[in-house]
Amino acid sequence: MTVISAPYEYTEEDLYVDLRSTYGHSLFLKCEGFNFAGSIKLKVARAMVQAAERDGLLAPDTVLVESSSGNLGVALAMVAASKGYRFVCVTDYRCNLAARRMMEALGSQVHVITEPTAEGGLLGARIDHVRALCAADSRYFWLNQYANPNSWLAHYHATAPAIAEAFPELDVLFIGAGTTGTLMGCARYFKQRQQHGHRPVRIVAVDTVGSVTFGGEPGRRMIPGLGTSVRPALLDESYVDEVLHVAEADTVRTCHRLARAGFLFGGSTGTVVSAATDWLARHDTPGLTAVAISPDLGERYLDTVYHCTWTRDLYGDQPEAVGAGSLSTSRTGS
Ligand SMILES: Cc1ncc(COP(=O)(O)O)c(C=O)c1O
Repeated sequence: MTVISAPYEYTEEDLYVDLRSTYGHSLFLKCEGFNFAGSIKLKVARAMVQAAERDGLLAPDTVLVESSSGNLGVALAMVAASKGYRFVCVTDYRCNLAARRMMEALGSQVHVITEPTAEGGLLGARIDHVRALCAADSRYFWLNQYANPNSWLAHYHATAPAIAEAFPELDVLFIGAGTTGTLMGCARYFKQRQQHGHRPVRIVAVDTVGSVTFGGEPGRRMIPGLGTSVRPALLDESYVDEVLHVAEADTVRTCHRLARAGFLFGGSTGTVVSAATDWLARHDTPGLTAVAISPDLGERYLDTVYHCTWTRDLYGDQPEAVGAGSLSTSRTGS
């Protein structure tokens, strides 16, 4: 039995789905969506707030502020409510309604940015807004997930050791890149371990087409979580062995295929699984131990990734589409 008294005290580190029956390759998907914030970002929210408290940076009247595409905002709203701080989340129109509603239900304020800046896109505009809030009122405190080392340290101390313990024979690890906190924490852990004589683990970063993180051309990205319009300050590419880019249409197809097997995962999980299964098919190495990280579950994406009109308008007809509207679509066609 696990008993907790604050919502951030419980994170699930031991749950994996083996995707062999769906994809024919053994790929263990580490599921990070089973906690009170519903995503991997709970560990980051907890680590950043606890570090700020430890460093004496927070007062009882502090207003925490953060730019988030949704999941970190929900996690911070939860941690802030539990600890008695106010919290303002600065997001943009791609943040799904469910995440916004959750933050508000937890007592936080949500500011939604609609206009990108010419240089930094929507992310740049969100960060400008955060800076303006902090400049106008000294009670505002920006945790800054884009540069805060506690973001990657959360994964260095929790996510990566849990994977290493569960898979001592690990060969390859697939990690989605947003702020790159998960990527850098896991990559540093496994590369440093290798220096101490452990087996090498290939670190494969997964990004979205249209993201500039690894130097690609900026382009339209509609699924929150992965990709950036400003290169992340946390990124150190020397720890990364390989980078794969996935088009959002492939992300949607993969999410729908997983849903058909009964697993309703979030958009970025579709991206990571799409990249990982392609990689495994190309490398054809039986016996390889491969793990991918799933940051959240699918409920927050019912109006986007799992909504037929949304996916059809953005990516065209999906042959195996699931979700709202898909049954009526196929009936019309038959
Ligand atoms: C659903 C989802 N996937 C992936 C990520 C990327 O994680 P990171 O910021 O650690 O790169 C995030 C980050 O917010 C996310 O919300």
